[in-house]
Amino acid sequence: MPDVPPPAGPAGKVVSASPRREAKPPPACTMVIFGAGGDLTKRLLFPAIYNLGVTNLLPEKFAIIGVDIADRSVDDWRKSLRDMLQSFVGNAASEDRLTTVDEAVWSKLSNAMSYVQGDLTDDGLYQKLQAHLQEVRKTQDTGGNVLFYLAIADRFFAPVIQHLGKSGLSAEKEEKAPCWRRVVIEKPFGHDLASAKELNKQVLDVLQEKQVFRIDHFLGKETVQNIMAFRFGNGLFEPIWNRERIDHVQITVAETVGVEGRGRFYEHTGAMRDMVPNHVFQLVAMTAMEPPVSFDADSVRTKKADVFASMKSLTPDEAVRGQYGEGSVLGKQAAAYRAEPDVAADSAVETYVAVQLHIDNWRWAGVPFYIRTGKHMAARTSEIAIRFKQAPYAPFEDTPVSGLRPNWLVIQIQPDEGISLQFEVKRPGPVVDLVPVRMDFRYRDWFPPEPNVGYETLVYDVMIGDATLFNRGDMVDATWRVVQPVLDAWASEQPKDFPNYASGSDGPKAADDLIGKYGDRHWRPVKLPEPAKKP
Ligand code: BG6
Repeated sequence: MPDVPPPAGPAGKVVSASPRREAKPPPACTMVIFGAGGDLTKRLLFPAIYNLGVTNLLPEKFAIIGVDIADRSVDDWRKSLRDMLQSFVGNAASEDRLTTVDEAVWSKLSNAMSYVQGDLTDDGLYQKLQAHLQEVRKTQDTGGNVLFYLAIADRFFAPVIQHLGKSGLSAEKEEKAPCWRRVVIEKPFGHDLASAKELNKQVLDVLQEKQVFRIDHFLGKETVQNIMAFRFGNGLFEPIWNRERIDHVQITVAETVGVEGRGRFYEHTGAMRDMVPNHVFQLVAMTAMEPPVSFDADSVRTKKADVFASMKSLTPDEAVRGQYGEGSVLGKQAAAYRAEPDVAADSAVETYVAVQLHIDNWRWAGVPFYIRTGKHMAARTSEIAIRFKQAPYAPFEDTPVSGLRPNWLVIQIQPDEGISLQFEVKRPGPVVDLVPVRMDFRYRDWFPPEPNVGYETLVYDVMIGDATLFNRGDMVDATWRVVQPVLDAWASEQPKDFPNYASGSDGPKAADDLIGKYGDRHWRPVKLPEPAKKP
């Protein structure tokens, strides 16, 4: 192996030193999608299945059964999925960047599809499904493996799982060959600590933990998975990845979208529940975890669970909430949250949250993690920014201290995925003048973009039984435990200043006060200026 990485080819053509490790198609199975007509199935789940088909990562013997309340034909269901795929073609703003729909892949999938109509709470549906599965097994030779995907409203999670148990559908018992029965549970997994515990109990009364795949779609993002590779696959970063060298960590998930017609859902949820104990804490765990013994599911999840266990429960003064007022987002006039459909005119629901989190362990004691997430912000960006401790000033005695900037390592999750390192260099010229520059790695410069909606890896992993990227029951409970004191405090006290940030801004002023409370710390601008490379 050369010790210098091979150079990048022209943009989009990686020159690789080692052969690419190819994934293999999973074993035969049937996928049952509850909520076949829903938005998640149409926009993300089915396109991911299609993309897996394009890359030959579906089982050779594969069937898909759609289950929904709507009385419709399988052809009608097929058409709605095909129309959705078609709408992605050539549409840069869509979930999937398709250039075409591959007819051979589509026709294989289309032949694998069938549809069962029924009410999720009715015993009859599960009997019908049992009979249908037997039929599909005969006609499509899919064997006994079944993946149940709950792409449904969370109030149905427990009832459906109870029905799967009662009807025998979840039993991994087979007369001839061993088989698996796996259940994918979507977000939200509970809406507070008590409900998450209760749901875990209901789920585990029926299923074994190894049958349960609690999904967090952030873990399907390539850049999120890359955090582990970046940290533990390089000798360079890990020695400085600790309280000795790191001042603090900032994690930002800023969105420009508002609630987009989901007012009814959002009024019961808010930014904290919607984003923090799930998506954002996954980013924290990836950043803060200890090196796993190996990359198998048990080792990785145990190290992540250790991070959650070490998180101190938040106190109300470590959290700030915000709600967007009217303003302008990306140059377009934007309405206030309270003016959105299905939102109360005096709503107290937060669309922004910032917290200061402490991880009480050997590596991170004294290093705060500042987290913020919000809707209708100045730009769309998700990033993990590590601020290193400042250099000693001695050699630069004539330089104003304020002129020295700390080093930042920024992992850009989306959009424009990549990693950048900011450091100081001397400006060319006779005087010693320091200026910050950025060294950027961009995924798109090295790897040709592939159609991907972010669910592909997750669906594939369920099919091969790899739970690394899924949450264990204890992890879910731990994350709710951390945010619960703030949820309680907010429920008992109405905010007095809502709306407190303008649409299109960086968030409320109180969030600046939170980060500025101790030491010289500021949020990075949500919309970054171009680097100072051409001073
Ligand atoms: C969802 C939240 O889980 O994640 C949404 O319910 C949020 O409110 C979305 O917009 C963000 O995901 P992504 O993949 O678009 O960054």
